[in-house]
Amino acid sequence: MSIGFEQIGKTFAARVTGIDLQRGIGPAEVEIIEDALARQGVLVFEAQRINDDQQQAFIQQFGPPHQAVLKEIASNHPHFYDIGTVDFAGTEISRESVAYQYMMANLLWHTDGAQNQPPIRLTALHARTLPAEPPPTEYADMHAAWAALSPAMQASLEGLMVEHSIFRSREQMGMKLSDFSQETLNARKPVQHPLIRVNKRTGRKSLYLASHASHIIGWPLEKGRALIDELIAHATLPQFVYSHDWALHQLVMWDDSWTMHRATPYTGSQPRYLRWCAVREIEAV
Ligand SMILES: [Fe+2]
Repeated sequence: MSIGFEQIGKTFAARVTGIDLQRGIGPAEVEIIEDALARQGVLVFEAQRINDDQQQAFIQQFGPPHQAVLKEIASNHPHFYDIGTVDFAGTEISRESVAYQYMMANLLWHTDGAQNQPPIRLTALHARTLPAEPPPTEYADMHAAWAALSPAMQASLEGLMVEHSIFRSREQMGMKLSDFSQETLNARKPVQHPLIRVNKRTGRKSLYLASHASHIIGWPLEKGRALIDELIAHATLPQFVYSHDWALHQLVMWDDSWTMHRATPYTGSQPRYLRWCAVREIEAV
């Protein structure tokens, strides 16, 4: 069966057919998916009844695995985090826990791993348990957002560097440095990334932003934060957003180099459990 793509968002995001992740994929499929990621940003693989090993075998063909090192939300596997109301063992995650507070920052528009150097390149999130009405995940097309800026605004942004830090996103959710272990504080130093990135396949430019984005290098803190806030507000206007409705056993894979995303609130009592893993860029950006 050949691989097919059907665009499901206004400007980006596609449903993939013809891939069975239980059986795995080879180099030819990897190349086709890489090309689709460069053009669609978000790919939805339906009805994939995969386990951890199969999810890892799939994503590791696209780059080195991101190590799940944060002690505060440790999973039972070095490359996975748990997303939802329960952990890998099916135990409810306490709303008072640091792990829960940490996850709440996913409600902010962000790019996975922008607080790292090299940053995360691709994320794969697999729906293992879902409530009857799962909350959608929203994605923003940062290529389209860049293209919609005026030429004067684009010119003013060229060359800017942004400092990213995990503590900036958590600070916005009311967390304090004292909520983190000393080990985490030592390991998670701020990093710098360009505000504008260029896709190597398509040549298209995009904004590279996240809730982790703290300020513009060389600018007064508040002036830089105001610009970051303005650009995130612009990039997440409805015309740039695809809202994804989850179905059980879907795997959604996205390109973090030119998309942002956020979780939406879930207040129901039914368990919700998604398994998260990622691969990083090979080189610093
Ligand atoms: Fe995320």
